[in-house]
Parts: sequence; structure tokens; C-alpha cells
Amino acid sequence: MYNGKKLALPPLLTGLERLEYRGYDSAGLVLLEDGLPAFYKAPGQLQNLREKVKNSYVCSSFGMAHTRWATHGGATEANAHPHVSQSQDLIIVHNGIVENYLVIKKKLENSGFTFYSETDTEVLVNFIELIKIDKKLDLTSAVQVALSEIVGACAMMVYSQSEKLLVAVNRGGQLFAGVNGSECFVASDKNAFAGYSKNFFEIGNNQFLLVRSGKEPKLLNFNLEVLKPEIEELDVDINQLTKGDYPNFMLKEIHEQPEIMRQGMTGRINFKTQEICFGGLDECWEQIKQASSLVIVACGTSFHAGLLAKYWLEKLVNIPVKVEYASEFQAATIKAGDIVLGISQSGTTADTIVALEAAKDQGAITLGVCNVVNSKMARLVNAGIYTRAGVENGVASTKAFTAQALALLLFALKLANDKKTISNFNLRIINQLESLPNLMEQALGSEKVIRTLARKLKQTTNCLFLGRGYSFPVALEGALKLKEISYVHAEGLPAGESKHGPLALIDEAMPVIVIATQGEFYYKTMNNISEIKHHGGRVIALVNKNDNEITGLTKEIIVVPLVDDILSPLINVIPLQLFAYYSAFSRGKDVDHPRNLAKSVTTE
Ligand code: G6P
Repeated sequence: MYNGKKLALPPLLTGLERLEYRGYDSAGLVLLEDGLPAFYKAPGQLQNLREKVKNSYVCSSFGMAHTRWATHGGATEANAHPHVSQSQDLIIVHNGIVENYLVIKKKLENSGFTFYSETDTEVLVNFIELIKIDKKLDLTSAVQVALSEIVGACAMMVYSQSEKLLVAVNRGGQLFAGVNGSECFVASDKNAFAGYSKNFFEIGNNQFLLVRSGKEPKLLNFNLEVLKPEIEELDVDINQLTKGDYPNFMLKEIHEQPEIMRQGMTGRINFKTQEICFGGLDECWEQIKQASSLVIVACGTSFHAGLLAKYWLEKLVNIPVKVEYASEFQAATIKAGDIVLGISQSGTTADTIVALEAAKDQGAITLGVCNVVNSKMARLVNAGIYTRAGVENGVASTKAFTAQALALLLFALKLANDKKTISNFNLRIINQLESLPNLMEQALGSEKVIRTLARKLKQTTNCLFLGRGYSFPVALEGALKLKEISYVHAEGLPAGESKHGPLALIDEAMPVIVIATQGEFYYKTMNNISEIKHHGGRVIALVNKNDNEITGLTKEIIVVPLVDDILSPLINVIPLQLFAYYSAFSRGKDVDHPRNLAKSVTTE
């Protein structure tokens, strides 16, 4: 939302571009000039909307915009936001799901309302209108009543043409307001208005922001009492929001990883004393040290980082770790004092937030490993670690994964050191960590080889990824990347499991990418490669330089620098990210906007 004295369209389009990670099935906006609305909507990516508005002559300095990830109703123009109420008085944009919308829709239909889209949002705006009319309320009070009757988390903005008032409200979602003199911006992510406004404040849970043209915005609590906003400075590097010299965000972010590793270690590892410190965990460190087990909850790529943490913690600290898909987490198994660790790049993934809230309700000590500073997760947990990956824009997570992995490895090393479960080990690993960024740069050096390989496999429709021990989560992540952006069916499997069923899938048309770098399971993995080869399979092996055993079994190899087994995931994932990237690229896919996905899923 923009309200000010300048043209509303440029900041609205910039904001939409920066919010595309929330979804890009369709986009729409409304510009208000002399109180009259002009609507523009287009299915598909933002570019389609840009085409539509490019010849707009509306001189508006007040507007709202939205980019949608389809939940209720397909990705059509009719379902794109903004939506209007029956009388045309109310205009809405909305994030979240109205879980009881079907019941409300029935009620509205019985009262004579007609619907033009399949969305819960159109139900919501008409519900507010019905309340407004029936109860003779103004917009703010009608929104307040509606909120107490709808089920589900939401963040929305509703504009009333008759009242010339916009009400922004947040219940369980996220909303931020930017204030720059007489200009006001509202968005679900503060980066949407970075560069336009230096200051911002959060519209907290159950808070309202009232915006009128030419007036200062007013922040209210749920009882409609005026609050003083807590203004903060918006500290974001605009370069993080642009692609720079890269063709897309994903490739840029893959190449940023060595630098992200440097940032992730700065101030946390003392390379002279081999000490690790995390200020954010101090408060709970004693309880963490006493814990006899740990539960991790996360989704997608963050779940794979969680699996890596399981290997590290079980190996280094000797405590059992359970890693749960956040959406499958059973809070009933948690007792007071248990440690539950959530991992999330965005810190807003609804499944992970709900799982952590449930764990907290059971009395757990909750920890977070999160990238977005001050996000919902960061504020929910008792203690945590920021992953310092900077803004990640690519829908397929890359640098956020390695940043999470690094933070979790340091966490495990510190715990092992403090609990004295390892000896003389830190020294070797910490010395290698110092050269990790350089080793990652070397791993990025195989880009050309991988591009050629991806081109050769352009017709492939299925692919297996195998790894054992620390390499198993990496195999899962490699498969997920390929699925996400090239739409190739891929599975990640424990290498040792290949003989217990998946071998039946093996033929020339099923390439198997095997992580076969030096380490505890090198020879066992070599046997698995041998089995696949003897059954007529095609193996592409990730090996270290000067490998002469696996190279005797397969000629298709990707060479990665040699590191200690324990650090290998941080290196080995890089060629798999590049493989997914070039597989998508050679198939002509839009890597930054994979179909049907959103970067941050704020619905359950
Ligand atoms: C979505 C994204 C995935 C991401 C997952 C978890 O599904 O498409 O790429 O890994 O959410 O996101 P989080 O922000 O919690 O790490």
C-alpha cells in the first residue's frame, strides 16, 4: 500500500517485485484517483501486470497491490486481488486463509450476496460489508467484529470508498508500515518499501493501522485504543534485493555462499583459541547442556538442514535427535523442559511456527535457527541463532541452507566441547572451517563441467541421488532442488538402502548421482555404485580429486575439494545446487519462479 504525495504506481510495483517470493500465480492492484478506483489484474507473473499498467494514465497517490499464491481458487484473473464487496464500497487485499469461509459464504449467499471469484478473500470483504450494514458500524469496528468470527491467521488491508479510510490489520500474520514524512507504506515484508522509507514499525498481532489521505497513520490495539508505534530504522542492503550481474537470484545466491560462510563465522569462532560462542543462546545454554535429547522441526530445505544437525549432534554430542516435518509434529510427545529447535529461513513458515507454538504450550524450551532477523520465529523462541545469509530471493533455497548447516555445525561443536564429548577434535575441524570459504570457491569451479552434464541429461525425466551418513541429507537436498526448479522427478535415498528396493528402478534412463567423497562410508558407497553399475545403471559420482577407485567404476564424475567427512555436506551440496540450476536452465525453466511454489508459505 502506498499513500503519499507522489505517484503510487512505482513503489507498488517495486513492492510487488520484492514480495513475489510469497507467490506469483497472479498479481493485481488498485489505484485511487479522486476517490475512484482503477483496477488492474493479471494471471501469471508480475510481468503480465506490468504490461497491463504500462499505459495507465491514472495519476494516483494512493493504491494497494497484491501478489498471490493460489490457495482457494485457481490462478485466474478473477481470483487475483484486490477484491471488492457487493456494493463496491470495500476493496481488500489479504494474506492467509479464512478457514471457515464456506460457512460464512453460505450465510452471505442467504443474505443475497453474489460471488465472482472462488476465493476466501471475496467472502471476507463481503462479510465485513454485511457486518458494517447490519450492525451500522464504521469500517474499523466492522473489521474488528469480522476478525472475532473468522478462523485462521490473516493480514489484510481494507479500503472504504465512502469513509475514505484504509484499515490494515494483522492477526497471526505479518504487516509492517514504513513512514517517510507524509508518505506511508504498508506491506507484509518491510523490504517491500526499502529504499523508499528509512523508518518502519510493525503492526503487531491484533493491531490496526488506520490510513487516511493527507493524515498521519494511526496505530490502534484490538480495543481501538491509540498506540505509540515503535519506530525502527530499516537496515537492508538494496544490493541484496537485486540480481546484480547475474541472470537470476538463484545463481547469484549460489555464488554468494563462500562469503556467507565468512559472515557466519565472524565473531563466532575464535580461530586462535578454537572457541565458539553464540550470544543468542546464552540464556538457555545451561538447559541445552543438560538435555538428554533434542527435537527438531522444520520444512523443505530447512528440514534437510535439521537432518544434518541430527548426524552432527548424535556423532559429536551423543544425544538422540528426532527430526520432524513441522506439519507432522506431535506436540503431545513433548514434556516440560524438553528442547525443541525450529529451523526456518524466513521465520514465517506457518507449519514450523505452529509446531513451535505447540511445543511451547507443552512447556518446551524452544530454540530457533533463522535467517530473517526479528521474524515471527525469532520472536517466538526462547533463544536462537541467526544464520546471517542476507536476503534470499530465489525460491529454491541455496545460501540459506549452507548458512543453516554452518550454524548447526557450530552449535554441535560448541555443545560437544562444553560437554566434553569430543577431544582434540575441535582443533582439526576449526582449522578446516577457516578455509571453508576458499574450498567452496573451488567447488564452484566445477560449474562448467556440471553445465555440460546437465545439458547431456536434458531429456531425463527421473533421477536418483544417493548418499550415506552426512551425505544422505545432502542427497535429499540435491533431489529437492532438482524437483523444485526443473520439475524432474527425483528421489534422495540412503546409499545403503538402494539394494533394498530402489535397485529395481535402475536402467540406462535413470541416472544415479552418488555422493562418494572420502569418509567413513567411502568403501560401502563404492560397493553400492558397483551394484548399480552391474545392474546396468548409469552413475554420476561426486568424488574428491585423485580418486582412483570410484573412477574405475564410472567415468562420469564431478570433482569436489577434499574436506573432513564432517564438513563435507557444506561442499558437496554446491555441485548439486549447480546441477539443479543448469538442469532447469537447459530445459528453459524460470529458476526464480518455479511453478506452483512460493518461497515463504504462511498457510498450514
Ligand atoms: C517453502 C519453500 C522451500 C522452503 C520451505 C521452508 O516450501 O518453497 O524452499 O525450504 O518453504 O521455508 P523456511 O523459510 O521455513 O525455511
